[in-house]
Amino acid sequence: MDFDIIVKGGVLPDGSKADIAIAGGRIAAIEPVIDADAGRVIDASGNLVSPPFVDPHFHMDATLSYGLPRINASGTLLEGIALWGELKPLLTHEAVKERALRYCDWAVSMGLLAIRSHVDVCDDRLLAVDALLDVKRTVAPYLDLQLVAFPQDGFYRSPRARENTLRALDRGVDVVGGIPHFERTMEEGRRSVTELCEIAAGRGLMVDMHCDETDDPLSRHVEQLAYETRRQGLGGRAVGSHLTSMHSMDNYYVSKLLPLIAEAGLAAIPNPLINIVLQGRHDTYPKRRGMTRVPEMLKAGIRVGFGQDCVLDPWYSLGTADMLDVAFMGLHVAQMTSPADMRRCFDMVTTESATIMGLADYGLDVGKAASLVILDAGDPVEAIRLRADRLCVIARGRVVAEREKRDMALSIEGRPATVSRRHRR
Ligand code: FE2
Repeated sequence: MDFDIIVKGGVLPDGSKADIAIAGGRIAAIEPVIDADAGRVIDASGNLVSPPFVDPHFHMDATLSYGLPRINASGTLLEGIALWGELKPLLTHEAVKERALRYCDWAVSMGLLAIRSHVDVCDDRLLAVDALLDVKRTVAPYLDLQLVAFPQDGFYRSPRARENTLRALDRGVDVVGGIPHFERTMEEGRRSVTELCEIAAGRGLMVDMHCDETDDPLSRHVEQLAYETRRQGLGGRAVGSHLTSMHSMDNYYVSKLLPLIAEAGLAAIPNPLINIVLQGRHDTYPKRRGMTRVPEMLKAGIRVGFGQDCVLDPWYSLGTADMLDVAFMGLHVAQMTSPADMRRCFDMVTTESATIMGLADYGLDVGKAASLVILDAGDPVEAIRLRADRLCVIARGRVVAEREKRDMALSIEGRPATVSRRHRR
């Protein structure tokens, strides 16, 4: 047997057609046609074959807890944080782990094989940290789970958050988090950015902060984060998540800010589903959209990945682990409707986010881990339009999820027909 699996006739994201041969969990060959023996041949004719989806911003310690101990009645960010505070003392290791593993199953079924999850470190027990470290080990054979030490209640504002952040990093959490806009003062927020970046630089870690997740046009923590990223050599390893205040900032100031972010090598992770429902809550009309300035960032050379943030938790009562939902919403909110921009939105839930997470073994290249997803769509734009079914998901050379195509049979006034939502070209 030459190969374990050959995926035949798929359409790659760049539009080329290729066969992909897999052996020993790695991509062994990508050629226009591969005629060889394989343990299994998967027919992907006319279907998009993509590297897996990547979610660079999630909260796995809270996911699938919707309704516990009550629902978020106002739907606001601050009630969500308060509700999470009510739920935290009730959490158990087993319950957090069970919900997280159930979510990872959803993720796999959606071809989502890499997730960066923030984990709240403000509970002195570090119960969620230990539970998610367990989950990380459990899912490691098929899903890259990266954890961020996240002081949800404030690095300085919460009494033991600073100490707990360090304890979490000592236990093996991968990335340093923060929430400067939630500290008591702008000055304490600024200092938290500096100290958290020093911790990351000192330990050789990445840093990813919830930054300026407000509608305050004067919130300036991203400026400080860009400054510290450059000063401490964290370029390519630092992320500002959300950055929603940038939506409301003065245009002149943004024209100065964007080149500073680009120069520093600071990446951005907006979370379109959450930003569009949580921001602008104090507005009457017109209501601000609250998502950061994605097209302008891309034009300035800033790397951007779209995150999902929440699924069925204190902040968001919907969600299905489908990164195509995220790309779909991001595309609309950012008005990125040209063909090139729509493809970029697909990249922002796949390759761009993988680069932000530093996933060295990711991508459809010979020698890389054989992880991919086959979609019932002809190209990335159609995948977004349809939020296309995942026909087959392969993780490190093993088929971990598959389904039949599902066209719907109609019978209207005696006229039988089959409806496929794919566009015939
Ligand atoms: Fe978040």
